[in-house]
Amino acid sequence: MRKILRLLKNIYVLNFLRRLYLASKYFNRKYFQIIKWGFSSKEDTNFTYHLTQDNIKYLAHTIAVVTNMDYSEIIKYIEELQSDEILKETILTAIDNSTEKKFADKEVRFGRRIGWYAFARAIKPKIIIETGVDKGLGSVVLCAALLRNKKEGFKGKYYGTDINPKAGYFLSGKYKKTGEILYGDSIKSLSKFSEKIDLFINDSDHSSEYEYQEYLTIKPLITDNSIILGDNSHCTSKLADFSHETDRNFIYFQETPLNHWYPGAGIGISYKGNT
Ligand SMILES: C[S@@+](CC[C@H](N)C(=O)[O-])C[C@H]1O[C@@H](n2cnc3c(N)ncnc32)[C@H](O)[C@@H]1O
Repeated sequence: MRKILRLLKNIYVLNFLRRLYLASKYFNRKYFQIIKWGFSSKEDTNFTYHLTQDNIKYLAHTIAVVTNMDYSEIIKYIEELQSDEILKETILTAIDNSTEKKFADKEVRFGRRIGWYAFARAIKPKIIIETGVDKGLGSVVLCAALLRNKKEGFKGKYYGTDINPKAGYFLSGKYKKTGEILYGDSIKSLSKFSEKIDLFINDSDHSSEYEYQEYLTIKPLITDNSIILGDNSHCTSKLADFSHETDRNFIYFQETPLNHWYPGAGIGISYKGNT
């Protein structure tokens, strides 16, 4: 049998087809997921999904290293978010009441935002800024973290920026009390900001120039304890460059979506290392 296989491998065309089959096995599953998603989901942008269990563990370990905290503490924060039924209900109600509901699924899937939440719980920021709000999934997740921090005696405020006047409709109910959306161009809003920023999340205009300009704009407002998360780091290395230029550490976490065709975004993490 082995001899026959070796003989067949020596025939160029057969070996070529065998090699194509081997390579395509890595992608064929994705086409199946695309068709399934085409029927089951209504989303057409800013896709949502859960992360695989292994991916969540890698994320928790990454955050533990950056924040110098125990892995088990970070996992607790992630589980706290995943089991927050009031938050999920708030999001589902906002979807129901929205004119955009024909493009949204009735399931709450946080993806990498579980990492944003864990950071906000771990470092107890006084000020969070997220540029680019869209429906407000990140906004409401970050405000949920701030509300939990407040219960533990740590006050904080969230600011989101978005150029779209309709952005941010998930930020409702009790979550709205701790968060505010600044409408207009993100860099213009950041230029007017004067408070120190403890946690900054870049997720607005995804061109590399704009992303870099956001980092330059907030440079005077960050301290050695500030953490910057880049939601564009799967596309550009601007946060890595900015970190190098400002003598900060940079690491990158790559998402692995669970049962979804999307290859995953990531979290670029810029930090000084003494938080
Ligand atoms: C990828 S979405 C943000 C997703 C959101 N962070 C989340 O967690 O789901 C990008 C958002 O950036 C906004 N945006 C694009 N260019 C902008 C700019 N120059 N200033 C402010 N917001 C901008 C868009 O309107 C869009 O809502």
